[in-house]
Amino acid sequence: MEELSKIIVHAIWFIWVAYIPNSIAVLVGGGTPMDFGCKFIDGRRVLGDGKTWRGFIWAVLFGIFVMGGIMNYVGLVLKDYSLGYVIPFAETWPEALGIIFLLSFGAMVGDAFGSFLKRRAGIKSGERAFLFDQLMFVFIAWLFLGIFAPNWLLTYYLHPAAVLSVVILTLILHKLLNIAGYKLGKKKVPW
Ligand code: CTP
Ligand code: MG
Repeated sequence: MEELSKIIVHAIWFIWVAYIPNSIAVLVGGGTPMDFGCKFIDGRRVLGDGKTWRGFIWAVLFGIFVMGGIMNYVGLVLKDYSLGYVIPFAETWPEALGIIFLLSFGAMVGDAFGSFLKRRAGIKSGERAFLFDQLMFVFIAWLFLGIFAPNWLLTYYLHPAAVLSVVILTLILHKLLNIAGYKLGKKKVPW
């Protein structure tokens, strides 16, 4: 039981460096689109105006150096006082920053990849697409970890309870954050 609760807490703890960049992109985004306005062979935009360099770059930098930095520091400080629930990404800072980079960067690449698939499916920027909008960024972050840090991924996200708790939390948070973004006037639609 204690093992299972730890698995779930760790899974949810680490995934925040993938969540936060997505919200930062919404707050600071704008300007030059990542696809520079180019169209794909199907005549539709590659990504669309909803994916901008400013959003992408600041999101990744914030995810790594603010969110990741603070979380890893908190993890290092609390690991001996939190019964092992709050832990750093890795024992050493270089290793930890590597993992954090994969999570933040993977999340933003995944976010753009979700848009790419939406455009191919003929769904307009900002129009809702179940799974592409909500979960693609987590899946791509996991994919990046699977390629570049497989041992870390297997340690924390192999258990079905770890995967399931992240998926459920992501769906709930996505809903709440989009409603908040809409209310703040940062998003045109509440999804
Ligand atoms: N945003 C950005 N750059 C990114 C990601 C997001 O500038 N790399 C900003 C954009 O202003 C975007 C807003 O955050 O409109 C909301 O992001 P999201 O919902 O992911 O994009 P959508 O506008 O819905 O576009 P798409 O349909 O392509 O997902
Ligand atoms: Mg959207």
